[in-house]
Amino acid sequence: MTDVRRWTVPGRVNLIGEHLDYNGGPVLPMAIDRSMTIKARARDDGVVNLWTDREGTSRATFPTTVQPGDVDAWAAYAAGTVWSLAQAGHSFTGVDLVVKSGLPSGAGLSSSAALTCGIAAAIDELFGLGLGRTDLALVAQHAESDFVGAPVGLMDQLAVLYGTAGHAVLMDTAASPPTTRTVPITWDDDGLVLLVINTRAHHSLADGEYAARRDECERATTELGITWLAEAGLDAMVKLDDETLKARARHVLTETARVRGAVNAMSRRAWPQLGTIFTASHASLRDDFQVSCPELDVAVDAAVEAGALGARMTGGGFGGSAIALVPLDLVATVREKVEVRYAAHQWPAPEVFVVHAADGAHLESDEAPPAPRP
Ligand code: GLA
Repeated sequence: MTDVRRWTVPGRVNLIGEHLDYNGGPVLPMAIDRSMTIKARARDDGVVNLWTDREGTSRATFPTTVQPGDVDAWAAYAAGTVWSLAQAGHSFTGVDLVVKSGLPSGAGLSSSAALTCGIAAAIDELFGLGLGRTDLALVAQHAESDFVGAPVGLMDQLAVLYGTAGHAVLMDTAASPPTTRTVPITWDDDGLVLLVINTRAHHSLADGEYAARRDECERATTELGITWLAEAGLDAMVKLDDETLKARARHVLTETARVRGAVNAMSRRAWPQLGTIFTASHASLRDDFQVSCPELDVAVDAAVEAGALGARMTGGGFGGSAIALVPLDLVATVREKVEVRYAAHQWPAPEVFVVHAADGAHLESDEAPPAPRP
């Protein structure tokens, strides 16, 4: 009987540094204690089977030679990972995968990166392919951008793979490949928690808006004659004519400064300052980068009014989740305020929960194989 391996793969929130990972800027996400479980067992017949508890897609089967366009919807993330491994020159003989997700999809918590990174890590381990964590992140990113069609940066994958309990992961995305280092999170010692507010406004990175922002950033970079937009100086505000490009560049410049400020505030345990930086980041994403939406804005405003030290959208935007840094004794007040505002707008109730920084994707233990399915 072939061994079954069980992987735990976390989602992530980004603390700060939004839309900087494809602009060569610093980003500061953390893996969270909400995760996906992936059970994996080797096959020798060139077949990949995928079972999932996700509604509407209970099973998918495709060959290890799968090509873009052969598989769609959620299973495309898995098929894309298999394709991307092959593209990188890694061959294997097939796998059974059983995915149980504790991560809501479309909530901006990187369920897609958890899936692609978890599958890549599981196949790598089963077949002894010898990939490092950064290699796995690159394989997962290639799957998402060139098989699924969402041209994402590398933040989510690196967060899911390099997450460390009790720490955020500071990334330098201008390095090739990007580098990471951990930053301790100590706000819980001072009576604070990080809340996630899942707006339930479904976000998708494959719908064109994300790609449009990337494109605008590239145009601004070319016009300024620099390598990365995050390198631009304040003179960019004079050099760029187009008001839209100027606004996008302004977000990238100010957000880069905010990440540095946030890391500094965290090292000094200057929590009100960190909160102010979070809220300023949200304003920049809303006004200059224009990736927020009414549900995110209402969540952020309500959280701050109810006593959060700061709040901001997290991830790509256009829906998904916000985060808020909240004194423990105000968690219920913040939740209630957000819920009341949502009810007034007749929006579905948001999901509000506390998260802690967790470890990245890891192998749990050998287990009995999944029950055979018809
Ligand atoms: C999504 C992408 C990331 C990053 C963020 C915005 O989560 O997957 O690569 O660009 O949006 O910071």
